[in-house]
Amino acid sequence: MADSPQPINLFEFEDAAREVLPKAEYDYIAGGATDEISVDRNRRAYASWAFRPRVLRDVSKLDLSTTVLGSKVALPVLIAPCGGHKRAHPDGELATYRAAASCGTAMAVSANANTSFEDLAKAADGMLWVQLYPFRDKAMTQDWLDRAQANGYKAIIVTLDSQWPPKRERNIRNRYQRTRGANYPVGGEHPDAPRPAGSGAGSDPAATWKDLEWIKAATRLPVVAKGIMTGEDVELCAQVGADGVIVSNHGGRHLDNTLATVEVLSEAVAAAKGKMEVYLDGGIRRGADVVKAIALGAKAVFIGRPLFWGLAVGGEQGVVRVLNLLREEIEITMAKCGRPTIASIDASAIVRVPPL
Ligand SMILES: Cc1cc2nc3c(=O)[nH]c(=O)nc-3n(C[C@H](O)[C@H](O)[C@H](O)COP(=O)(O)O)c2cc1C
Repeated sequence: MADSPQPINLFEFEDAAREVLPKAEYDYIAGGATDEISVDRNRRAYASWAFRPRVLRDVSKLDLSTTVLGSKVALPVLIAPCGGHKRAHPDGELATYRAAASCGTAMAVSANANTSFEDLAKAADGMLWVQLYPFRDKAMTQDWLDRAQANGYKAIIVTLDSQWPPKRERNIRNRYQRTRGANYPVGGEHPDAPRPAGSGAGSDPAATWKDLEWIKAATRLPVVAKGIMTGEDVELCAQVGADGVIVSNHGGRHLDNTLATVEVLSEAVAAAKGKMEVYLDGGIRRGADVVKAIALGAKAVFIGRPLFWGLAVGGEQGVVRVLNLLREEIEITMAKCGRPTIASIDASAIVRVPPL
């Protein structure tokens, strides 16, 4: 990074990361399922909304802080659960967590993290959530829930869109091999491979809403369902007592040909009826995207791939820079829309773009 100019936005971060990452790692991170239609749509759909700028509304002091499940964060951008941060930097999750903590935001730790839940909890004084799947192995699930609670984690994310493995053609071409996460029992099965009947540690293809209900009953921590793309599934989440949902298509990495997450956000918010917090991830690359998602009812958003671009380019400081770039862009957008606080960003801040 020393002799090349600092990236000034998240796209330039991706370009710089592509220069330093092995091709197969870059492809694993950047890629998606089959034709990558959903990867592309997640990104482009933000252009379907435009801002309605407002003037003379005293924007001399901007407050980007908000709460997630009752805990304060300094900005409405959280770190999505993503496996294997060491693929982008040797400090891996430790660097990402320190960056998130120093920027005052939360990090969700993936089921496939390269670092143990315990080591991460000791690395900084920030906010951690943990992500798991509806595992067939209930004893391991209970163990993870207990470890999360004992180590001060604040919430559980259950990823529900990964019960069947996707077809990712870049990885097939590159013969890409994933490493297993540090938190699984040694000798256990691969986390998200489909498996025949029998016991195992993977995301269970036979899981149903009863399994989410089971997880909710097995922990005192709030439970957030991730990978929700329809109002019907939001309603079912509410019925089993989930505390939040993440509108997500896994960054287009599982089922291709879905709508963009931002396109289904309103449907999800309407179905939540104010009973659960609704978050969004997928394609967030600009502060403007964050403000649009909040205007459409998201409580906060998560970023996935950009954390790897930050790590690859500059380790902890690279992730700090990624978060700060988003913060600066959110500030500009809020100021120019006359919205000095996150709570003041409502549906009237945006309008659906009519066809030209
Ligand atoms: C390299 C990589 C690994 C990921 N691993 C996980 C994971 O282990 N669990 C999970 O729930 N989501 C995982 N995701 C999905 C993210 O949590 C998130 O849904 C997605 O990246 C958001 O889209 P974005 O990358 O466009 O920001 C992963 C994403 C990437 C890019």
